[in-house]
Amino acid sequence: MRIGMLTGGGDCPGLNAVIRAVVTKGEGVYGHEIVGFRHGWRGLIEDETMDLSVSAMRTLSRKGGTVLGTSRTNPFKSEDGVARLLDTLQRQRIDALIAIGGEDTLGVAAKLGEQGVRCVGVPKTIDNDLSGTDYTFGFQTAVQIATEAIDRLHTTAESHDRVMIAEVMGRHAGWIALHSGLASEADVILVPEEPFDIDEVCARIRHHHAMGANYSIVVVAEGAVPQEGTMILQSGGIDDFGHVRLGGIGAALQGEIESRTGFETRVTILGHILRGGTPTAYDRVLGTRFGIAAIDAVEQGRFNTMVALRGEHIEVVDIHEGVDVLKTVDQDLLDVAAVFS
Ligand code: F6P
Repeated sequence: MRIGMLTGGGDCPGLNAVIRAVVTKGEGVYGHEIVGFRHGWRGLIEDETMDLSVSAMRTLSRKGGTVLGTSRTNPFKSEDGVARLLDTLQRQRIDALIAIGGEDTLGVAAKLGEQGVRCVGVPKTIDNDLSGTDYTFGFQTAVQIATEAIDRLHTTAESHDRVMIAEVMGRHAGWIALHSGLASEADVILVPEEPFDIDEVCARIRHHHAMGANYSIVVVAEGAVPQEGTMILQSGGIDDFGHVRLGGIGAALQGEIESRTGFETRVTILGHILRGGTPTAYDRVLGTRFGIAAIDAVEQGRFNTMVALRGEHIEVVDIHEGVDVLKTVDQDLLDVAAVFS
């Protein structure tokens, strides 16, 4: 078989581990040919490929980013995008596709499946907001980096008697904010799932200081929003999948908290630092297990599916389980966090 593979959407630590696993088992064990498509779905529209050989896979799982490159191109957004993509699949004699991505990339794979393209999805995102799987790879690395960074904010906040705000990624879901905020003992954690009341946030900080603290740590997910639109937030352009470019909640909070409480306040936007660099051991192993399961699924002819972590095991599930509903943080975790704020 000739099997195409692509990585789409935002990059994420662990992508190269998936690629290495697919190529190593796909070529080395099953004897298939793996064709890498560059820059997500754009590579299929433009017929941009990359040779992937087992020998080139050595040491790859330790590297961050994706050797295939990525983009947020949506073939369904341009008039001839899907037709050109299908032409490429025919020209390249591709029998099956492994799409590694988040809700957008796997959403395209699900739609292509309806048109007869044989796809297996691999769930990726630092945001951990894909349903159907307990965790996505990349999330654990992002939480680890955020936690280390917030730990560092504690000492400088303490030295200067300041409120320190750490803004972390998480467009629709607060998984990174909650996990890193809990791990680093943040005083306030704000997530998209629960619009916040700025008066209440400031009251919590004032109370904390009245109880003897000389500094506070606030962790905010980039997608967190104030109640009733009481604060003005900036937003950037819109991408092919209709997502607004976020970034601005941390700065807005800084002004509000400083002017309302009188405590000197600073903001640090961790942003893409959470996505870059080497994956943790956990994400290397999860990516590797996902890659092996994906090539096995292709070998077994299990298409329109996604590999998923369920408990301790990797399973193969309907791709719609991953893309139809976003996985937001669960109440149990919010309740745990509430004990400490
Ligand atoms: O991949 C998901 C994500 O990391 C979101 O948390 C974030 O909003 C977005 O990507 C940023 O995307 P870009 O790299 O296009 O700015």
